[in-house]
Amino acid sequence: MAQKFLVIANCKQGGRTAFFDQLLSELASCSVFDDISLVVMPPVPYLGQLVSASPQVFQWGVQMVSGRSGTAWTGSYDASMVAEIGAQYVCIGHSERRQHDREDSLVTISQYQQVVEAGLTPIFCVGETAKQRAQGQSITILESQLSAVFNSDCFAKLPKHDIIVAYEPVWAIGADKPADAQSVSTEFSWLTSYLTAQFSHGQYTLCYGGSVGPGNCQQFAKLPEVNGLLVGRASLDIDAIKGVLLECSGY
Ligand code: 13P
Repeated sequence: MAQKFLVIANCKQGGRTAFFDQLLSELASCSVFDDISLVVMPPVPYLGQLVSASPQVFQWGVQMVSGRSGTAWTGSYDASMVAEIGAQYVCIGHSERRQHDREDSLVTISQYQQVVEAGLTPIFCVGETAKQRAQGQSITILESQLSAVFNSDCFAKLPKHDIIVAYEPVWAIGADKPADAQSVSTEFSWLTSYLTAQFSHGQYTLCYGGSVGPGNCQQFAKLPEVNGLLVGRASLDIDAIKGVLLECSGY
């Protein structure tokens, strides 16, 4: 069976109970789920109640886990906890966490390991900043972020699992003027070569994220390299996320 196109809704620190109730009821009636696999990543406090209420048409994820073991980590939660309340996916290495929460490569590796060992699927985000891009370092940055995990000793010991990589150029996230697919074609070509060299075809999914919404999602969805989208702000606008789902069904 052909792989479904993946849409991941990263709600970040947004949405409240009333919003999620409406999202569930409106998305349940969308007739796109034969073509699209939808993963919703709400803030963790809402996850348990949403999973209990949710129709089985889509799946759930969280936006981070601690990567630490043991109990003496106030405010933290690990992958086995979110697995218990229904998460199947965990976002790792999002640029907002790399930048604002100082999650470096070592943290990313331990989170990745914890996620896979808990039986969940990591959604591994990579991307260069505007400054790095202006200095011609995009590929160097992508390679170092990917290799930090995929070439680590720890990765080599992990059980086989689905590989999901989300290319999210930092300069395109939350941008007034979104990236167009043409401007990131070099990065997509490089990412495709890198991933096919590391993993067999069909074992990985390459997603794009950065100001994706209705109106521009198709230009990314129709790229042969891209099998999914990571959606930020548009996840918090029910018409917009429905628009993305409708426009991307069939890819
Ligand atoms: P925006 O779609 O709001 O630019 O956010 C993208 C993102 O960070 C998804 O993880």
